[in-house]
Amino acid sequence: MSILKLTHLNVHFPTQDGVVKAVNTVDLEMANGERLGLIGETGCGKTVLGMSIIRLLQLATKVEGKIVYKGKDLLKLSEEEMRKIRGKEIAMILQNPTTSLNPVLKVGDQIAEAIQLHQGLDKRAAKEKAIEMLESVKISSPEKRANEYPHQFSGGMKERAMIAMGLACNPSLIIADEPTKGLDVTIKMQIVKLMKEVTKRKSMLFITHDLGAAAEICDNIAVMYAGELVEYAKTEDIFKNPLHPYTRGFLNSLPSMGLKPIRGMSPSLIDLPTGCRFHPRCDHASAKCKTEHPEMVEIENGNYVRCFLYT
Ligand SMILES: Nc1ncnc2c1ncn2[C@@H]1O[C@H](COP(=O)(O)OP(=O)(O)OP(=O)(O)O)[C@@H](O)[C@H]1O
Ligand SMILES: [Mg+2]
Repeated sequence: MSILKLTHLNVHFPTQDGVVKAVNTVDLEMANGERLGLIGETGCGKTVLGMSIIRLLQLATKVEGKIVYKGKDLLKLSEEEMRKIRGKEIAMILQNPTTSLNPVLKVGDQIAEAIQLHQGLDKRAAKEKAIEMLESVKISSPEKRANEYPHQFSGGMKERAMIAMGLACNPSLIIADEPTKGLDVTIKMQIVKLMKEVTKRKSMLFITHDLGAAAEICDNIAVMYAGELVEYAKTEDIFKNPLHPYTRGFLNSLPSMGLKPIRGMSPSLIDLPTGCRFHPRCDHASAKCKTEHPEMVEIENGNYVRCFLYT
């Protein structure tokens, strides 16, 4: 059974310079218990896609299509109904714990606040649960740490606290946005291991640049380019046999693969290229790629690619 199904999702921002088309006709389905990686270069729309699911974008944003979570279209819910889903059913673990944790509140109190809000526990029980959560993300001396402020936490510990906060209300779906960004390699590996452990029986949309982390945690990977999906495949297939020229370029640009950058620049989301959005940077582009927009097509047992090389 699918826990989340996005159908023809568009997220557009009207701005003075024009409409920023951050997410375009995205179709994506997550099975219950699946951990899905969402990868792509900076500015391609990953965070916007994640935020649109829990409706955390400003009101002027144009969101169209369907976001069906456990059978309910979230875009049709009232703000009040949505508040009951946020945090409790679907939790987002954000990109930057330094700005997401409140600097003037003790870490334990922040987690307790989230628990109180959604689970109706009294203050004391919520604080106890918060300490339990800190322990579950392997913060040592959790009772003492719960009474500390974010600035007393290291980067890795702040990320652990964010994960604890995200998990506090036992959500079914987690949207984790770059949880390892800015951490040094050893800490990164610890956080990846932790994420893997704590999401074992959950569904997670894992947004990341860090393909190593995605490979470690995710069952499937969706590759995004200029606001749309260009490839979707089982994790091992993406690494063994990437199909889309963009996916291949993205993998080759990794330090472990020789740091070969893809030529050219990612396009403006206000003025998207005609045809295949990747054609100006693609070594395989033909005349057709410049004028016609390829659809996502199934290649084999559930793997999809958007490229005329395969049609
Ligand atoms: N409120 C907004 N108004 C206008 N444009 C926006 C707004 N929020 C995001 N964007 C634009 O949408 C595009 C996608 O941004 P997004 O943050 O989703 O990228 P990303 O893939 O998460 O990048 P990164 O990997 O750097 O986090 C960017 O061009 C960004 O400038
Ligand atoms: Mg982002």
